[in-house]
Amino acid sequence: EPQKELIRDTWQIVSQEQIHHGTVLFTRLFQLEPELVFLFHYNSAHFSSVQECLSSSEFTEHIRKVMTVIDAAVRSLDSLPSLEEYLTGLGRKHRATGVKLESFNTVGESLLYALESGLGDTFTPDARAAWSRLYAIVVSAMSRGWWR
Ligand code: HEM
Repeated sequence: EPQKELIRDTWQIVSQEQIHHGTVLFTRLFQLEPELVFLFHYNSAHFSSVQECLSSSEFTEHIRKVMTVIDAAVRSLDSLPSLEEYLTGLGRKHRATGVKLESFNTVGESLLYALESGLGDTFTPDARAAWSRLYAIVVSAMSRGWWR
């Protein structure tokens, strides 16, 4: 079970500026896997650059959606199985976007990167380990929806 207090205390700080930290996360993700930007298209229009994607209102909404899921996981630390059905459904939807399950490892690295950028020394090794476990729980629930 992840160290709940470490997660709650650090999220309390970072969640004050969700879009900012979410933008740091996705900026990092697109540095590590630039081709992921092509999976985001709205009204069948693709972005011609990572910068254009990051600054669009539709993509900002996706950042908000991601942060809302993380927020829900933090709020549900005492009852994570209650998110199972939602997260397997979310996994199924992501499979349909063409993203590979392996890319969610890079998302996890990018999440830790964003947390570290936002928290500095407050992001202790124990806090990192706790977040890493929580993220693994969320992604494993999403992955159970992959083949359903
Ligand atoms: C929807 C791609 C990671 C949460 C979407 C959509 C795309 C997409 C193309 C549909 C368009 C949209 O709603 O903006 C990706 C890719 C990811 C990624 C390529 C990483 C490689 C995540 C993560 C979360 C997340 C980590 C949360 C843990 C959501 C939610 C929706 C969504 C909540 C809306 C689903 C709905 O319509 O019910 N994603 N996503 N995404 N994504 Fe992601």
